[in-house]
Amino acid sequence: MTDRNRDVSQHNEQPLIGDGVTQGIVRVGDTVRRPVRPFTATVQAYLAHLHTAGFSEAPVPLGLDDQGREVLSFVPGDVPRDPLPSDTAGEAVLVELARLIRRLHDAAQGWVPPADAVWGGVPGARSTNSTPDGEPLLVSHRDYCPGNVVFRNGLPAALIDFDLAKPTTRIDDLANVLYYWAPLLHPKDRAPAFADLNISRRVAVFADAYGMTPPQRRALIPAATAMIYRFHVNMRAAAEVDQVFKRFWDEGAKDRLPRAEAWIHNEGPAITAHLTTVR
Ligand SMILES: Nc1ncnc2c1ncn2[C@@H]1O[C@H](COP(=O)(O)OP(=O)(O)OP(=O)(O)O)[C@@H](O)[C@H]1O
Ligand SMILES: [Mg+2]
Repeated sequence: MTDRNRDVSQHNEQPLIGDGVTQGIVRVGDTVRRPVRPFTATVQAYLAHLHTAGFSEAPVPLGLDDQGREVLSFVPGDVPRDPLPSDTAGEAVLVELARLIRRLHDAAQGWVPPADAVWGGVPGARSTNSTPDGEPLLVSHRDYCPGNVVFRNGLPAALIDFDLAKPTTRIDDLANVLYYWAPLLHPKDRAPAFADLNISRRVAVFADAYGMTPPQRRALIPAATAMIYRFHVNMRAAAEVDQVFKRFWDEGAKDRLPRAEAWIHNEGPAITAHLTTVR
């Protein structure tokens, strides 16, 4: 245990409240303490790999403290909440996010998780991500909700909360980013500043900044459509077994997710057409 992780008196602990999924997160100086979960050691090994591979825009894993909690470096900046504020609606945000996630993917590619790796997931999940044939797996973040992106100077600068990290494909991971940040939602369910935006254009701006290949561009909307269906199935299942997810479901997911499914069914072909033809 390093000195940084040693005993801290209660008054030095500042609660950090996110989306409410993880209870008991506190800031202590330049560190964050989080409860240990079955996947904590695996995620810490992944974070250590990312830093070794040159991706430093994620918390540094610092082991456990003397209360048995996970210790991570505190990542300075601002974390937006839903509904996304209007100053996050500019295309520069999408461009920076795409570059950040491209660097994450390139650093993650080739990392072999430990044989005894344990991964997190939504409670009671019924359906997991599908892997399109031929797509290489890599461990990635998989949960780019606003509360997990740290901004500095108005632009995305780092990612936090790797609790849902596990093997995935670049396409599935990018579908998750775009669900939150294009966003791939019915206009009624978007933050006000995003309601009238041209989503086809935004997806293409993101794809260009990431450097998506033609096959990735063709696969994106089918992957996003399958993902939104999984969100729907899994959120409904999680709401039956977990109070926090029951609240997410009752407070909007039960309407938002079927609306997103219908929206992407209608709009997806035009988004794909734009994404695969504009150059
Ligand atoms: N390493 C970190 N550096 C800076 N801030 C952090 C860090 N970890 C957590 N936070 C802050 O605490 C909030 C909650 O943490 P976290 O996202 O890990 O949990 P959560 O939001 O409950 O989980 P979930 O996103 O699954 O709902 C974050 O949104 C962020 O504001
Ligand atoms: Mg979070």
